[in-house]
Amino acid sequence: MNKHHQKSYNNNSVVKKSFYVINKMKKLAYNSTFVYPLVIKDGQGCYIEDIDGKQYLDFTSNISSCPLGYGHPEIKEIIKRYGDLGAHKIAGQDFYCEEHILLAEKLIAITMANSKVFLINTGAEAVENAIKLAYRKTGPLPGISCLNAFHGRTLGALTFTFSKEVQKSNFPEFSVKRVKFCTSDNDPEIDTIDKLVNNYKISFIITELVQGEGGLNVASKKFAKKINHISRKYNIPLIIDEVQTGLARTGKW
Ligand SMILES: Cc1ncc(COP(=O)(O)O)c(C=O)c1O
Repeated sequence: MNKHHQKSYNNNSVVKKSFYVINKMKKLAYNSTFVYPLVIKDGQGCYIEDIDGKQYLDFTSNISSCPLGYGHPEIKEIIKRYGDLGAHKIAGQDFYCEEHILLAEKLIAITMANSKVFLINTGAEAVENAIKLAYRKTGPLPGISCLNAFHGRTLGALTFTFSKEVQKSNFPEFSVKRVKFCTSDNDPEIDTIDKLVNNYKISFIITELVQGEGGLNVASKKFAKKINHISRKYNIPLIIDEVQTGLARTGKW
């Protein structure tokens, strides 16, 4: 921050610090999906503090796919340790790191014995790579996804996202069939997916089990079991998107 800006901070009421950053960013950055006028300074536990010193109780304990709260001592310790290293070790597919083994073993222990990991940096990348694996086997057949789903906003994942119209307008789509995300075992549309798999060749089924961005909807047990059953019966890969629920957000792995 240069002297001029510091001066304007001091001369104005504290609230203007946030306004300054927001207005400056509006000039510098493409105005895409900023929704809250919150300018983050620091955080502790479940509280976040803005640059005007205002504290907020953050009921989401940080952003949806990273519900780690603020200032956890173990996380701080690891960041410190790695901050001292010269090399940045990314979760990528280019070089090997010992730490990748530790993470892979942990993930496999949490999921299932026969699984393999693919380390990547964002949720949308994870979704798109899962889709690529399915397409590699079947070619570009339709994928099945749910109404109100959220799987990311990159160009590939966007087809299968359906939570907000504003995210989707004017972009081309991959081939897709959509089904209702059933939250009740008695939902009359629960069998729609049977008709789809009988009438079309399908590359994959993708769904969350608890929709996050689409409105915190919990899949009914029957719906979840049906999708699993169809996946096994017709040998259609099932992609369960746990980007939001995965870090024990529901209270368990
Ligand atoms: C269920 C789900 N899938 C995918 C994504 C996309 O993740 P990212 O924003 O890290 O690309 C999100 C992000 O919130 C998500 O909630």
